[in-house]
Amino acid sequence: MKKRQRKFCFRRYIKNGKAVLLLGTAAVLLSGCGSGKEETVKSIKVGVTLYDQYDTFLMEMMQAFKEYMLKKESETDVTISVEILDASGSQTTQNEQMRTLVEKGCDVICVNLVDRTEPTTITDMAEKNNIPIIFFNRELVAEDLERWSKLYYVGADAFDSGRIEGELAADAFLTDDGMDRNQDGICQYVVLEGEAGHQDAIVRTECSVNMLLESGVQVEKLGYAIANWNRGQAQTKMASMLAQYAGKMELILANNDDMALGAIDALKASGIPKEEWPVVVGIDGTDPGLEAVEKGEMIGTVYNDKEGQAKGMLDLAFALATGEGLEDIELESNRYIRLPYQKVTKENVSNFRK
Ligand code: GAL
Repeated sequence: MKKRQRKFCFRRYIKNGKAVLLLGTAAVLLSGCGSGKEETVKSIKVGVTLYDQYDTFLMEMMQAFKEYMLKKESETDVTISVEILDASGSQTTQNEQMRTLVEKGCDVICVNLVDRTEPTTITDMAEKNNIPIIFFNRELVAEDLERWSKLYYVGADAFDSGRIEGELAADAFLTDDGMDRNQDGICQYVVLEGEAGHQDAIVRTECSVNMLLESGVQVEKLGYAIANWNRGQAQTKMASMLAQYAGKMELILANNDDMALGAIDALKASGIPKEEWPVVVGIDGTDPGLEAVEKGEMIGTVYNDKEGQAKGMLDLAFALATGEGLEDIELESNRYIRLPYQKVTKENVSNFRK
């Protein structure tokens, strides 16, 4: 049992009574560090390293994480300190940050990997120092997660996000005759893709198109562009695709909302009247994404449950750091927490707005 966990036991006694006092005392004596004084300060330290702190979805997820942290503190009387670092897109930087977080005495470290194929330095360091790691949002392959018993993953099921995006697009094509601009019965589309090699980018692209086909929509891919989840890059790439496929594009499938919004920026800048815009669909349900659905600029998005993921990650971090309540957390295959995606349209968008 770690020292901090022992402190936690002791504090519980103060709140909950005699029986637990004996437990806490026993733990302190066993550790040989009983000072004879009652410790009333209990705290845990959580480290977080982000692949890019300016990523909109992650910014919103970390906001939810901090909000939930305050709630958790007031519910448990345990002080939670969090240190959030930005790896700015460099795996080398992130490996150094991992070292720093270990040296600073973090009880658990949450890692949003820069390169999901390179977790080894981090997992080796974690195992050597016996510090649990919760990877999140950028999923590593199962074999890498299984390398040590205290490695976990919090995220969502990328397949579902693609399928729901495809459903949104298929519903629009099958119900709105005007979407088929050239009336050839085929949906001409382009894709804005996230980072090459990211599980969500690969799976979302494939599943959304498969869902269109399964729904009975014939499709023709005009082109695609990689825009790395980024609004500015998407705007630039879309501006050149609009020129290249002038008047032909009927659907823009974006792997996330920021890129869908970049496409909308390009459409606005192009001067094409709104009634002639291709249909735009995104994924995430970020605040600006939901606003675009509300305004009818995007026909829909797929809610990536940032609040659920933030809560899942903090509850797990708390349980790992204090040694309490791990059995109450539902883990798939003992390691995964995955939150479901939800379909967002103009009809239900208000349920998702804060
Ligand atoms: C995805 C999300 C993107 C981006 C990416 C970063 O799940 O939809 O907007 O945040 O993660 O890894």
